[in-house]
Amino acid sequence: MTAATTPAPVPSQAAAWNGPVGTHWAMHHERYDAMLSGVDDALFEAAAIAAGDRVLDIGCGAGATTRIAARLAAHGHAVGVDISAPLLDRARANTASDGITNAAYERGDAQIHPFPAAGYDIAISRGGVMFFADHAAAFTNIARALRPGGRLAFVCPQPADRESEESRTLGHFAELLAELLAQDDGPDSNPADASFETASPETATPETASPEATPDAAAAARTAMASLSDPARIHKVLGAFEDVRVSPVPVETVWGESPADAVDFLLSRTPDRTLDERKRASLEEVFRPYATEHGVRMRAGVWLVTAVRPAA
Ligand SMILES: C[S@@+](CC[C@H](N)C(=O)[O-])C[C@H]1O[C@@H](n2cnc3c(N)ncnc32)[C@H](O)[C@@H]1O
Repeated sequence: MTAATTPAPVPSQAAAWNGPVGTHWAMHHERYDAMLSGVDDALFEAAAIAAGDRVLDIGCGAGATTRIAARLAAHGHAVGVDISAPLLDRARANTASDGITNAAYERGDAQIHPFPAAGYDIAISRGGVMFFADHAAAFTNIARALRPGGRLAFVCPQPADRESEESRTLGHFAELLAELLAQDDGPDSNPADASFETASPETATPETASPEATPDAAAAARTAMASLSDPARIHKVLGAFEDVRVSPVPVETVWGESPADAVDFLLSRTPDRTLDERKRASLEEVFRPYATEHGVRMRAGVWLVTAVRPAA
């Protein structure tokens, strides 16, 4: 299948990332960056960017990894591509204020974006490759953008796992919040919806994130977070690559400076809901065991995926 014949992008993803989800990520870009930066060492070690490389950052968001890539490719350049206008505005502003001159940004759906053929030495992504309508077509388009022998390195979420510290804690938070909201709303409220709205997009499970149950754009984005959690599927959709490797990487995610800050952040995703001080305090207790001098930190895991565009 060629890029020209691939299906159109899922409208709800573009809607989410140009609407409430993208706006929230742009507004809270420093916090999301802090949350995700635990994967940077593994990602950039695997990417092994050389000074002269031309780097493509897929789903670059506010451009944190594009800026790191640009610094590493001191004599080359980095290009971030993203579907979200608000996040690209943030990326351009952050890049200018950092004085980085060898990074640029393009708006587009990486599944069908007309990248220059063989225009890059390496493609990277920190959690920006899960949202395609057709993953195999998207990775074929990305492979085409790489020179023969060019490399791919990305990280994506592992399956939500109630045994993991982060999944368990966010699940507990979502359940408690749903209970507290139900107390306000009375018997007609829908705790499942409330729980979904506050479930971490990083850890949304199929049970809490059914697209049929929650058809709005934000819900679709959260569901898509888990689209590459199965290594067998990763291998399947990377058919245009060879030497595909999927390795688990343990990470610590940072959800706030303090339990109160973590609760504020999670509640900011449902701004139409308010809770009194007593209820907020009970939510803070969920995070208390993970409060450290360096913020609320929970153990989680991601997949690190590397692959190579065949040389011939
Ligand atoms: C989970 S965020 C990660 C952002 C960024 N990589 C980071 O680490 O902060 C996912 C990003 O993928 C982008 N995205 C979603 N679908 C996309 C698509 N089809 N093409 C390009 N970018 C896309 C979103 O707009 C968003 O910026």
